[in-house]
Amino acid sequence: MNALITGASRGIGRTIALELASLGYCVSLVGRRRETLDAVVSEALAAGAPRAVAIPADLGDAASCPMIVSRTVESLGGLDLLVNCAGLSLAGSFTEATPEQWDKVFAVNARAPFFICQAALPELRKSKKPVVINIASVVGFKGYANQSVYASSKHALTGFTKVFAKEVQPYGIRVHLISPGGVATEMVKEMRPDIRPDELIQPEEIAEIVRFLVTRKGSGTIDQFYIRRYSGLAFD
Ligand SMILES: NC(=O)c1ccc[n+]([C@@H]2O[C@H](COP(=O)([O-])OP(=O)(O)OC[C@H]3O[C@@H](n4cnc5c(N)ncnc54)[C@H](OP(=O)(O)O)[C@@H]3O)[C@@H](O)[C@H]2O)c1
Repeated sequence: MNALITGASRGIGRTIALELASLGYCVSLVGRRRETLDAVVSEALAAGAPRAVAIPADLGDAASCPMIVSRTVESLGGLDLLVNCAGLSLAGSFTEATPEQWDKVFAVNARAPFFICQAALPELRKSKKPVVINIASVVGFKGYANQSVYASSKHALTGFTKVFAKEVQPYGIRVHLISPGGVATEMVKEMRPDIRPDELIQPEEIAEIVRFLVTRKGSGTIDQFYIRRYSGLAFD
């Protein structure tokens, strides 16, 4: 089985990639930084991936979307699982956001998953067990002050994922949306240095959900996981 994971150079994407490697998936890893991706390639091979390839690409560039799919298929021979995890956040009052910032965040968080799904569809249709997992966020449902651009982009991804799931259902493609609250990664360290990492959801918990989704059997499907921190934030 072959998986393409964006945002695989660190954080949640890296942890998901290594979980999939341990399940025996061949993995194609996307991020901007070649050196960090190469390190994850080595980790994935050590974790059990029969093959692992690094595809450095800036998903802020729309042309990268079809390119990463075609290079994955060339390298691995097909595509069974797509995990759209790359993302970037932006903090600040909506009064200060610029059109350039808005475009940059939307390009990576909303446009890239949309056009990667579009490019991947013909390959996924050839798979016996095609799955797409989009990593959005609780901010794709809720509104928190000073996260207007980030939240808007994740609402866009959430909306797209719901429509995409319906449109590809006739082809037997399972589509899942995972919407985590704060996860202990560099992203949160940069946005919320006031929160201790041990107070946050761990990236391994998200990877466990991915493992569950790709290994479970049965005719029922699970559309989405909305994961909030257990302590302190009930009904936030
Ligand atoms: N951490 C959280 O609390 C949290 C909560 C909910 C949802 N999420 C979502 O989960 C996903 C992963 O977040 P994370 O916390 O693991 O963040 P992270 O540690 O900052 O990792 C982000 C990943 O995205 C890649 N990326 C960013 N911009 C890119 C671009 N222009 N082109 C290609 N790759 C790019 C980065 O690779 P390079 O730097 O090498 O390009 C990196 O691999 C994101 O979509 C995020 O919005 C995170």
